[in-house]
Amino acid sequence: MDWFEEVTKAAAYLKSRLTAVPQVAVVLGSGLGFLESQMKDAISIPYGEIPGFPVSTVPGHSGRLVSGSLGGTPALLFCGRVHLYEGLSPQKVAMQVRTAGLLGVKAVLLTNAAGGLDPTWTPGEIMLITDHVNLQGTNVLCGPVESRFGERFVDLTDAYDAELRSQVRRQARAMGIVVREGVYLGLLGPSYETRAEIRMFRLLGVDAVGMSTVQETIAARQLGMRVLGFSVVTNMAAGLSFGKLSHDEVKETAARVQKRFSELLVASVRTAGQVVSGG
Ligand code: HPA
Repeated sequence: MDWFEEVTKAAAYLKSRLTAVPQVAVVLGSGLGFLESQMKDAISIPYGEIPGFPVSTVPGHSGRLVSGSLGGTPALLFCGRVHLYEGLSPQKVAMQVRTAGLLGVKAVLLTNAAGGLDPTWTPGEIMLITDHVNLQGTNVLCGPVESRFGERFVDLTDAYDAELRSQVRRQARAMGIVVREGVYLGLLGPSYETRAEIRMFRLLGVDAVGMSTVQETIAARQLGMRVLGFSVVTNMAAGLSFGKLSHDEVKETAARVQKRFSELLVASVRTAGQVVSGG
């Protein structure tokens, strides 16, 4: 498969439909498909219409791209993502981010639902990702060298942009929104973790666990895009609270924080737009 060709086709199709060059892209995770109503001059394109685009099979993940202006910044909103556990390759998982990159996007905001490992946190908290650990057992850069996407050996030191993070922290403070910071662990899923795994991950310095984001971050960094990552801690990780973990709990908590989180995301898109346009 020529992935560059695949992504180029998707980008060419979108170019024919979009009216503005987007600066910032947002990928919305489980149960977080809410930001769309905030978009001005929105054009909505179902993933099924975009050549080669994978369509999500997960309840709570809608599947459309919305282009428009968010807080005055030309933006793309990916409402719904796909995951490795759906049986898709990392290259398919990264198609959204790579297509955004070929369309001229300079910063991506990746959101996800995650289990929290810090016992002092409670479900509903928002965590800015400072760094990740990739234990998904694969890497989107595996395969033939594709220099049109960038380097083969991509540097992931400071993968989550320090300047943007500090701006978001400042914004959050001004808005009265509490934001945690921590390390995100990307796992394959789709089963949740065992208690023993969570005990091990705590020893390793992980703050939140999830089943997405890391491949997208790697692909975005290869293309030179700036990355911000946000985890909504939808539940305490296995063994850290009573009861069973369930996707319903994940969706319920995500729904509960929608308003606060969407306000923070709009502000973050605006900030990222200002930084990447040098304004
Ligand atoms: N583990 C893995 N992924 C998740 C979790 C979790 O506890 N919650 C939401 N996504």
